[in-house]
Amino acid sequence: MSEQFDVVIVGSGAAGLTLALRLPQHLRVAVLSKGPLTEGSSLYAQGGISAVLDERDSVEAHVADTLDAGAGLSDPEVARFVASRAADCIHWLIGNKVPFSREEDGRGEGPLHLHREGGHSHRRIVHAADATGRAVETTLEGMVRRRDNITVLEHQVAVDLITARRLGHATQRCLGVYALDAAADRVRPLAAPAVVLATGGASKVYLYTSNPDGATGDGIAMAWRAGCRVANMEFNQFHPTCLFHPRAKSFLLSEALRGEGARLLLPDGTRFMHRFDERGELAPRDIVARAIDHEMKRLGADCVYLDISHRDPEFVREHFPTIREQCLAYGFDLTQEPVPVVPAAHYTCGGVMVDRAGRTDLPGLYAIGEVSYTGLHGANRLASNSLLECLVFGTVAADDIAGHLHELPEPGPLPPWDESRVSDSDEQVVVSHNWDELRRFMWDYVGIVRTAKRLERARRRVDLLQGEILEYYGNFRVNADLLELRNLATVAELIIRCAQSRRESRGLHYTLDHPEPAPDPAPTVLTPSR
Ligand code: FAD
Ligand code: SIN
Repeated sequence: MSEQFDVVIVGSGAAGLTLALRLPQHLRVAVLSKGPLTEGSSLYAQGGISAVLDERDSVEAHVADTLDAGAGLSDPEVARFVASRAADCIHWLIGNKVPFSREEDGRGEGPLHLHREGGHSHRRIVHAADATGRAVETTLEGMVRRRDNITVLEHQVAVDLITARRLGHATQRCLGVYALDAAADRVRPLAAPAVVLATGGASKVYLYTSNPDGATGDGIAMAWRAGCRVANMEFNQFHPTCLFHPRAKSFLLSEALRGEGARLLLPDGTRFMHRFDERGELAPRDIVARAIDHEMKRLGADCVYLDISHRDPEFVREHFPTIREQCLAYGFDLTQEPVPVVPAAHYTCGGVMVDRAGRTDLPGLYAIGEVSYTGLHGANRLASNSLLECLVFGTVAADDIAGHLHELPEPGPLPPWDESRVSDSDEQVVVSHNWDELRRFMWDYVGIVRTAKRLERARRRVDLLQGEILEYYGNFRVNADLLELRNLATVAELIIRCAQSRRESRGLHYTLDHPEPAPDPAPTVLTPSR
């Protein structure tokens, strides 16, 4: 028998938890997470959340900066919609006791301390020192765990959406989701008239990434398989400054460091960013990452350096305690010396297409947060606009669900997962090999600088891998690694197809074959064949 809820939320990052908490408390809500509830990109967010809270700043300036970073592809109406709701979201978090950093007044009640980051014309980044994500995520976690109407289902890997057409109904809609219960090693059907994908991004498709292991694009792949359009998958953001160290797993050095004066240096100690953009180290991320990539390739260097050692050590210790500690653990003292950095995949700007309420193409299915494409980020996301988008769309989607749930019929009992034709895997090495191969060719051929030839090579490889994965999936019992690999391969295909169809360079998509922007840009929209 399937378990029945009013709303099933797949994902417990900033987006999923916000939505769960904003829903009316009489609804029966399930929140699924692949691992522990707090694990996901939200937990690791450093810099903060952008919001206009200073009287010298304005929503119009925030919109203009978002559009500028978005390089002609952000939707101005969506940018205004999000920026104008930012302050309310911050006040909601403050009301719920998220401990944001404040100006010193001796009592901890001074105005919010605002950071500045690349592409922002004003200081507008609300933060909790350099561990903003942890402060937000753990606060929301505590609230969710205290709510009687919310069932927390940890260590559950959503496998696929259950749609009406697949069950032979005439009218298409989402009825629920199959989820692999990792502890019980069984797939269970969860039924709900409203299902929300809040599964985060797909940066794990690249060999080097700032993201945690679960960022495998599961929601994008599930929505695509269920018939939803996806857009702008070619715009993969590479964060310019991740710690270069074999054991550091691309630990992030927040852009807020550059906002407080940190400089980028070549191995010989010279600055270089002003040769690429008059905003220097505070240019938008696509420009900084490409400049670093260019200089590393020109010099044959393994890394460049980030240097904030000219600032007062006490200031660095106070504002960047987490980053300083992590760097020390790898043998670098941020307050005393330049630290080696390289770019790494950081954010998926494209995703499942949604409207202004987070609704996808499939009735009853919503997508919010990094999994979605709302039109906000265009060809490149402005720093600290992601958590903001999670908060805004988590709120508006909750309102929409609350307002329309009565129109969506109960799905009724759903069929159990069919395992009659599969056996236990005999060659798990196929899965681990394909994981590595996929991530490496995506890094080498579909990375910061692309060419038509590289994309063709990647396309051939992904087609081959998908054939193998499909065969494996059809024959063997599912496990988390296989499910993630299947999703990564789908996402890789979508990225490559989008990149191949964009015959220009814009924002995060740069190809040597078409180095200039085209005159009339439009989003890249892919529609699944039915
Ligand atoms: P996530 O927080 O990634 O959560 C995804 C959730 O989905 C998890 O609970 C996961 O378990 C669940 N999930 C995924 N797949 C499945 C499945 N198949 N079944 C069940 N559950 C599933 N943005 C900013 O705006 N400001 C910052 O300062 C900032 N700093 C960052 C620093 C780092 C190191 C990183 C990696 C990102 C940063 N970002 C920042 C980006 C931002 O953190 C993310 O875009 C945002 O947190 C995404 O939130 P989310 O709720 O959409 O997804
Ligand atoms: C950072 O702190 O540099 C990350 C901010 C972001 O991804 O928006």
